[in-house]
Amino acid sequence: MKKQILSALTSLSIMTGLNAHAADIKKLPQPDLSQTSPALMDLINTRKSERFFNKNKAIDDKTLSEILWVAYGMNKYGRRTIATARNEQNLKVYLLQEDGVWFYNAQDNALEKISDENAIEFTAEQQKFVLDAPVHLIYTSSDKRWGSAHAGSAYQNVYLYATAKGLATVIRGLVNFDELHRALKLNEDEFVIFHQPIGYSD
Ligand SMILES: Cc1cc2nc3c(=O)[nH]c(=O)nc-3n(C[C@H](O)[C@H](O)[C@H](O)COP(=O)(O)O)c2cc1C
Repeated sequence: MKKQILSALTSLSIMTGLNAHAADIKKLPQPDLSQTSPALMDLINTRKSERFFNKNKAIDDKTLSEILWVAYGMNKYGRRTIATARNEQNLKVYLLQEDGVWFYNAQDNALEKISDENAIEFTAEQQKFVLDAPVHLIYTSSDKRWGSAHAGSAYQNVYLYATAKGLATVIRGLVNFDELHRALKLNEDEFVIFHQPIGYSD
């Protein structure tokens, strides 16, 4: 009997552990890679920074998945959607949401929760319009030499995707770097590079 109770308790604790783990990992929908959007030259010609977001218009999970994929997903060659120096793939992309800080795991096409903190305010101290955006990407790296270049490639992909989809975005450096470093639980050698809010402007 003792043995049975012990076994039931063990199963319960394993299940609880599994549930807690599952809540911290959000599988993303597959991005649709077959889309034929406006011509590339037209997208480049009409790309622009926008600083107004409709706070009542959310971004659905498939669009979010595609934003993350264009920024830094895995491509058909098992590399990234952007070039990285020596293919080190050492950029990191985080998503800030009201329910917490999430890390983009491109290999698993999933988001992994880093913390329950709403860190969006630390992106908006100097530009309040940012608070209306539903999606907030943070680019980080430990690569002092090429980290910014990698982030630049990623944010440009997002600009072009946003232009194709009628989304608004602006790349930003005016953030509270120290608070974001803490909220994202970055290591000493890692640093925040940019913030990119994305949303609909209409
Ligand atoms: C490295 C970098 C940092 C930027 N930081 C900010 C920022 O903190 N806030 C902002 O509103 N725009 C920021 N911008 C956007 C520029 O202001 C914008 O790209 C520029 O005005 C040209 O407009 P366009 O992107 O529509 O061509 C930044 C752009 C770059 C490349």
